[in-house]
Amino acid sequence: MKISLSPRLKMCCNFVAPGSRIADVGCDHGYLSIYLILEGIARSAIAADIKQMPLLSAKRNAQKYGVEDKMEFYLSDGVQSLPRDFDTLVCAGVGGDTMVSILDAAPWLKDARYRVVLQCQSKTHLLRRYLSENGWRIYRERLARDGKFLYTAMDIGYAPGQVLTPGQWYVSPALLESGCEELEEYRQNMIRLLSLATEGEGKHPEPEQQTALAQLRQLSI
Ligand SMILES: C[S@@+](CC[C@H](N)C(=O)[O-])C[C@H]1O[C@@H](n2cnc3c(N)ncnc32)[C@H](O)[C@@H]1O
Repeated sequence: MKISLSPRLKMCCNFVAPGSRIADVGCDHGYLSIYLILEGIARSAIAADIKQMPLLSAKRNAQKYGVEDKMEFYLSDGVQSLPRDFDTLVCAGVGGDTMVSILDAAPWLKDARYRVVLQCQSKTHLLRRYLSENGWRIYRERLARDGKFLYTAMDIGYAPGQVLTPGQWYVSPALLESGCEELEEYRQNMIRLLSLATEGEGKHPEPEQQTALAQLRQLSI
């Protein structure tokens, strides 16, 4: 049986290498793991969620699609209660703050044997800043349109040395290199976001926000 996946989740799946053993953190319905197994991309999947109901839904869906023998299910805050025998962590549809907490609580992920795919739902600039300041490298980042919204997903790994400027917290070098056709629209969205936060009466912008805005305005796509 085939499963149809949203463009947002497909974008994440495109970053997963064939033969991977994945951990799908914040799995909810479990569709990402199920798709990767059905397509023969993932060998196995650990599906994890902080809440019981989503995890039950993932279990039911795994049975429905006949892949439960290749999946394990864990109630877990981030990766805290997970076995470590996966090679690719995927976390999609979760906010930047939560992603930072998940990574920060698991320094053992800072190991070249792990790849991490993140599809951040909000505050993505804070996530990129955290990655840059903590030795994570964004190898690839792409955009996908899903309904009315543009989403980004990134493929990262622990490889200290990539330091991002404030402007790059909003549009990373990897995203710039992606050549995605929605890039200019995304840059304009980021400029609008920063303008709203920094310009006008009663605003007290942080210097980094002003630097980021100036850098984004100079950026040519
Ligand atoms: C919006 S859903 C996204 C589901 C799916 N990954 C997707 O992208 O379609 C977010 C899921 O993350 C779970 N979640 C939030 N914080 C979490 C954490 N710290 N650890 C594990 N799961 C978490 C929520 O319970 C929820 O099921």
